[in-house]
Amino acid sequence: MKKSNPLKPGDNNLKGVGIWMTGLSGAGKTTISIFLEKRLIEMDYRVQRLDGDIVRQDLTADLGFSKEDRDRNIQRVSFVAHLLVNQGIVVPCAFISPYWEERQYARDKIGRFIEVFVECPLKVCEKRDVKGLYAKARAGEIKGFTGVDDPYEIPKNPEIVVHTDKMTLEDEVEIIIDYLKEHNYIV
Ligand code: ADX
Repeated sequence: MKKSNPLKPGDNNLKGVGIWMTGLSGAGKTTISIFLEKRLIEMDYRVQRLDGDIVRQDLTADLGFSKEDRDRNIQRVSFVAHLLVNQGIVVPCAFISPYWEERQYARDKIGRFIEVFVECPLKVCEKRDVKGLYAKARAGEIKGFTGVDDPYEIPKNPEIVVHTDKMTLEDEVEIIIDYLKEHNYIV
C-alpha cells in the first residue's frame, strides 16, 4: 500500500528541509541533487532543486565570483530556500558555497537544514573537467576559480560527507535518504 504523502499541502506535518550540497566545481553536487530529486519525487515528496548554474542565469545573473558576489548569491538563494522549506518542500541546493560563514548563514536562514560535503580531490575534479573550466582557469582565462586561485573552506561539521571519487552515485544518494529518514525529515 502506498504511504500517504506527509508533505501534502494542508497536512499538519507540513515540513520541508534544505539539503545543502557544497563542494568544488565538478565534485558532483548537481548530479547528486538531480538523482536525489528523482528519488524524493518517486517517494511523493514535493521537491524544488536550486542549483548555482541555473540560479546564476536569472535570480543572481548580476553577480560574479568575487567573495562579495558569492556571498550575495548564497544569501539570496538561502532566502528562496527558506520560503520553500517553510511551505513543506524538500529543497536540494547545489552551490560551491566556498565560505564557511555563508554556509552558516544558509543554515541559520533555512532552519531545517542539513549540510552535505560533496568531497572530491581537486585533481580528480580537474581531470573530470566536465565544463572545461579548470583548463581555462589554469590557462589564466578565468580568474578567481575555486580551488585554482580562489579559496574553498572545508566544512567543519557537515551532517554528511560523500566521497564522489570512491563511491557510487546510488550509494551517495542512499546515504542522504537514510539520514533524512533517521532524523525524521522524511518517512
Ligand atoms: S558560489 O561560489 O557562488 O557558490 P555557484 O555554485 O553559484 O558558486 O556557481 C558555480 C558555478 O559557476 C561553477 O560550477 C562553474 O560552472 C561556474 N563558474 C564560473 N566562474 C567560476 C569561478 N570563478 N569559480 C567557480 N565557479 C565558477
